[in-house]
Amino acid sequence: MPPSDRLRSHRPHDGSLLWEGAAASAAQVVAAAARARAAQPGWFAAGLEKRVEVARAFKAAVEADADGFARLIAEETGKPFWEAKTEVASVAGKVEISIAAHAERTGSREAPFKADPAGASQALRHKPHGVLAVLGPYNFPAHLPNGHIVPALIAGNALLFKPSELTPAVGAHMAGLWAKAGLPDGVLELVQGAGETGRALAAADTDGLLFTGSAQTGAALARQFAETPHRILALEMGGNNPLVAWGLEAGDVEAAALVVVQSAFLSAGQRCTCARRLIVEDGAADALVDAVVALADRLRIGQPFADPQPFMGCVISNPAADGLLARSQAIHGKTIRPLIRQHEGLPFLTPGIADVTGLEVADEELFGPFLQLIRVRDFEAAIRAANATRFGLSAALLGGDRGLYQRFWAGSRAGVVNWNRPTNGAASNAPFGGVGLSGNHRPSAYYAADYCAWPVASVEAERPFVATPQGIA
Ligand code: NAD
Ligand code: SIN
Repeated sequence: MPPSDRLRSHRPHDGSLLWEGAAASAAQVVAAAARARAAQPGWFAAGLEKRVEVARAFKAAVEADADGFARLIAEETGKPFWEAKTEVASVAGKVEISIAAHAERTGSREAPFKADPAGASQALRHKPHGVLAVLGPYNFPAHLPNGHIVPALIAGNALLFKPSELTPAVGAHMAGLWAKAGLPDGVLELVQGAGETGRALAAADTDGLLFTGSAQTGAALARQFAETPHRILALEMGGNNPLVAWGLEAGDVEAAALVVVQSAFLSAGQRCTCARRLIVEDGAADALVDAVVALADRLRIGQPFADPQPFMGCVISNPAADGLLARSQAIHGKTIRPLIRQHEGLPFLTPGIADVTGLEVADEELFGPFLQLIRVRDFEAAIRAANATRFGLSAALLGGDRGLYQRFWAGSRAGVVNWNRPTNGAASNAPFGGVGLSGNHRPSAYYAADYCAWPVASVEAERPFVATPQGIA
């Protein structure tokens, strides 16, 4: 096998090799799709009860393996062990949430059909699409693909799952837990590989694709899907998220600074919902900015298993760190706190903050610990600045009263709008998705059930009957 067909995953925090395996060839993708196609009818026919039983067995397998699973996530992503444990808890928690969402949003309902003399009834039921591809990102290598996988399996689909090429070990581990839970062969086909494999999956014999990743890849997939509008495409993409601080009470500044730091720097800024832009009132924000900088200086950045635990780890790779450093330096703002590589040859970055007021900054997602400060004169200008992006994933207001928050909520163009809470940390029991370049109006999390099945409306009677229409002689 030529070297290009090998996939290697390295622990980002020390560069050591963690996992090595083969990337699927185009022919292997076709074969995996055929196996999934063959397995899907049996999985649907097995019935909801059986599928729920397997999903609950998966949850039990995840919980039994929580420590080992979290260790692997921390090793492969470089995120702190404490945070990896929260990711595993989300993976397990997704099962009951998905069972409830399936019943509530795509379950079955039967009711008498109007005042039908033949006693017909009306039914609403849902069917799975069939075979779906799931493409995952690296930042939550288990929780985010799992957010598609669990509802799609409960609905009765068979899946082709491709983890990020940066986190193949976590993907393989999670697929193994499904096998351990008793998922029949072929129902979840693991396909390892990078972008080329993703393109092959999008071209394969599937009924749709569920994607979480960058807007750039999402747009490429939308182009690829343009010729097959009958296939479902769910895109969960990035953001350039605003956090507006306005009318803060002096006594709330420290708490607000904590919200800013968590919004911007949690997971080393590698969350789609991280705040990228802090919008403040010109002349009235020095105390907040000072408190944010002071807090940023206190953040522990370190190895995933360091004791005491760090607030954040490294970013995913040296190329990612190089890109972030180059892009932050290309923003010619006033540096408040520079984005710096802590150790030569490793992707640990200290949080960066720059004042970009008055500058034309490209509307791009910087997927790392870098926050842009924008000062504006009035609240309307703050809302305009918040919405001055092609993305629309998350937004938050810090400070103000309920009336101000209502203005912010009404004016914000984002799928998550919070008040006095971070922009990130979205709950799995709520819908999660964005507008603009952040998604294609198929929100995930609680609403994932919606894109995993299609509705069938029926009117049903025991005997043939229709009221005699007019015009029959
Ligand atoms: P990415 O777009 O680079 O990759 C995501 C997946 O797509 C990977 O499996 C990758 O191999 C595959 N891929 C890459 N190019 C492809 C192509 N041309 N055709 C088909 N598949 C292709 O994203 P990433 O860097 O792994 O993840 C970070 C991004 O994900 C950020 O933009 C972040 O905001 C976003 N994200 C979004 C959400 C959300 O729910 N909205 C959540 C987490 C991350
Ligand atoms: C993410 O999906 O990247 C993070 C979600 C969140 O923390 O809100």
